[in-house]
Amino acid sequence: MTAEPIKNEGEELTDPIAEIPGFEETESRIAVMGHPIHAMSVAFPVALTFCTFGADALYWWTGDAFWARAALWAAGTGFLFGMFAGFSGTAELLLVAGIRVRAAAWTHFIIAVTLLALLGANWGHRLYGYEAAVLPYGILLSALCTGVVAFTGWHGGKLVFDYRLGTSKRS
Ligand code: HEM
Repeated sequence: MTAEPIKNEGEELTDPIAEIPGFEETESRIAVMGHPIHAMSVAFPVALTFCTFGADALYWWTGDAFWARAALWAAGTGFLFGMFAGFSGTAELLLVAGIRVRAAAWTHFIIAVTLLALLGANWGHRLYGYEAAVLPYGILLSALCTGVVAFTGWHGGKLVFDYRLGTSKRS
């Protein structure tokens, strides 16, 4: 059973965070003609993270060195595009008052930075011997990255579709 909040007769309950100046200001600032760069760039690290896992699985199945090399490139480009997406997201977080003030935006930041650390580790692990790196630690890291990228993307979607962050309020 949840306790009802105590309020006096005629008193309105308000969220103190919503009182902060700029709470309603959530429109993207890091954008090209109103289109947020972060939303446009996240597709690349998401897709490349899944490609890395796919290439690792194909290397395990076929033993063909091509797939180990493909995984190295997918891991590296996924990390670099992820950093680019991270910079645009961080700029948005710090510059837009209505995004900065919401706890959910900071939660997304923490999940995303964890992801970037894992993507960097997955790439770095392969740099000194991309074939030997796949089994077992490369593919295990790739599997972990796919889970964390899915969580990051799902949570980013919540920011846009539930909180309307980065969207235009103009009609
Ligand atoms: C590292 C720092 C990051 C910060 C501070 C950040 C912040 C944000 C913010 C504020 C939004 C709301 C939309 C906007 O204002 O543009 C957003 C959306 C989103 N973010 Fe991030 N982000 C970061 C990294 C990432 C990474 C690395 C990924 C995935 C690889 C990601 C995936 C997403 C997705 C999928 C959306 C929803 C886009 C849409 O549906 O339009 N974010 N992020």
